[in-house]
Amino acid sequence: VQTNNLIDGKQTAEDIKVEIAAAVAKLKAAGHKVPHLAAVLVGHDGGSEAYVRNKVLACERVGFQSTLLRYEDDITEAALLAKVDELNRDPEIDGFIVQLPLPAHINPEKVIEAIRPEKDVDGFHPMNIGRMVAGLPALLPATPSGIVELLSRQGIKTSGKHCVVIGRSNIVGTPVSILLAKNLDNANCTVTLCHSRTENLAEICRTADIIVAAIGRPEFVTADMVRPGAVVIDVGTTRVADATKKSGYTLKGDVKFAEVAPLASAITPVPGGVGPMTIAMLLLNTLRAATGEIY
Ligand code: GUN
Repeated sequence: VQTNNLIDGKQTAEDIKVEIAAAVAKLKAAGHKVPHLAAVLVGHDGGSEAYVRNKVLACERVGFQSTLLRYEDDITEAALLAKVDELNRDPEIDGFIVQLPLPAHINPEKVIEAIRPEKDVDGFHPMNIGRMVAGLPALLPATPSGIVELLSRQGIKTSGKHCVVIGRSNIVGTPVSILLAKNLDNANCTVTLCHSRTENLAEICRTADIIVAAIGRPEFVTADMVRPGAVVIDVGTTRVADATKKSGYTLKGDVKFAEVAPLASAITPVPGGVGPMTIAMLLLNTLRAATGEIY
């Protein structure tokens, strides 16, 4: 379907990258080194490879230095923790991420907790999560802060509105529900956090002014769950097999776009909605980590 209510996350992310590039030029002119992001990728998951590739490319675009560290999926937890410690101590590295998911024999919580909070540009460390909840300056997780920033820059009024978040993951659902309830970029939403055990989900969704779909199940949100005029933010990026595509797959969001888009006052497409914002906010975190203006 063709609708004229698309929220252009790609353009908004481009705008942010132009601002970051200008800040990098200023740093350089003042004789400072450019921000340096490192990304750790374990194994060969197709989605993770694509995300990390895009993150490294985005660094080049804004004038950052970047380093990609790749390990096979049989790397031991101890060896990975040792790499994290090297990055923690390396004065050349301003911030780094360990791309998730990790192989089953590695405890992701243990790896995340090993990252120095000042270099945790994913904002996943319990220190940064705690500071975020407390309303203290922190490195904020990229997808949640990207959603708040996208709504703000699109001029979508959120203050006082009812936002229903579907999905309670540590990466998106839980942190975005916290950020949306705060007075950050004037978000100030009344938030309902729904998940797999929620009763009357469709009924609750129909009371939403804003729906954030972060379930990870393709086309989960259908027209009967959306009040006409609602704003719909689709965080889903599931690869679904598609023989007609050269890549062999189609990227599917968590929203049944064809039937929901005509109802919504504004909706993010997949791809080109939330995804590019995640990368822009990661770059912004790296800039902040490099300039030491975090806590
Ligand atoms: N896996 C899915 N999203 C993310 C992200 O934002 N950062 C990392 N490191 N892994 C992810």
